[in-house]
Amino acid sequence: MTVDAATDADAAIVDMALDVMKNAGVLAARAARFNPALFRVAQQRIEPNFTVPQTTISPVMRRFLFQIGYAAGPGHIYAAGSYVGFAFAWLVAGRAAVDAAFTARGVDIDQEATAIAARNLQHLDGSANIGVSVADALQDLQAPGPAIDLLFIDVDCPDRRKAAYAELAAIAAPRLSAGALVLAHDPLVPAFAEDFRRYFDWLDQSPAFGPTCTLPLDTCGISVTVTR
Ligand SMILES: C[S@@+](CC[C@H](N)C(=O)[O-])C[C@H]1O[C@@H](n2cnc3c(N)ncnc32)[C@H](O)[C@@H]1O
Repeated sequence: MTVDAATDADAAIVDMALDVMKNAGVLAARAARFNPALFRVAQQRIEPNFTVPQTTISPVMRRFLFQIGYAAGPGHIYAAGSYVGFAFAWLVAGRAAVDAAFTARGVDIDQEATAIAARNLQHLDGSANIGVSVADALQDLQAPGPAIDLLFIDVDCPDRRKAAYAELAAIAAPRLSAGALVLAHDPLVPAFAEDFRRYFDWLDQSPAFGPTCTLPLDTCGISVTVTR
């Protein structure tokens, strides 16, 4: 991959998204603002070195994911549908820019993509703290494991597409720490509107979650909610 040019506009959009989250009570008011220099360090590790056959993770979304990892400082990150580790890498790289006191796990049912992810993620700081596995997240999240402080959901099955988001959040709930962030990618994609309606309905009915923001950062968007 070639390195995309950092733009002031993207940085401003990320800071605006953080402000929306802070005003909604999804993110702590003291959370750090976007730091282009820190982002560039991560970008130089990821974009020239990663093998990414395809991705919808746009330049502004890369900055947002990096910033969430940095500003929220989760102790344990879990990515459901980690594919070749690209979105996951921005979250992890942001977290690694704080310190090394974290762990991160990505799972995907695609064996080939996970093998690529394992190679890609070796390029990151803190790579010893990061693991990727071939697994169905719906089963993997039922096994005992560390409390999750940031859950990133991007599973996409050929038959069910994004229909598993609500089920996944429900299964993950017992593993989520208080104040954990749950990021769900693609709420703005028209083909997934019904899946997201069910996901948002489920969140609305779940007293353990909320408030929720949907951030129109790009044509895919991302929704962020928090555990109470
Ligand atoms: C849209 S891709 C993820 C893209 C990725 N987040 C990125 O960085 O660009 C969706 C992934 O979900 C995976 N997937 C589908 N169902 C799954 C499940 N139940 N558990 C884990 N992964 C799953 C697919 O194999 C696919 O790699």
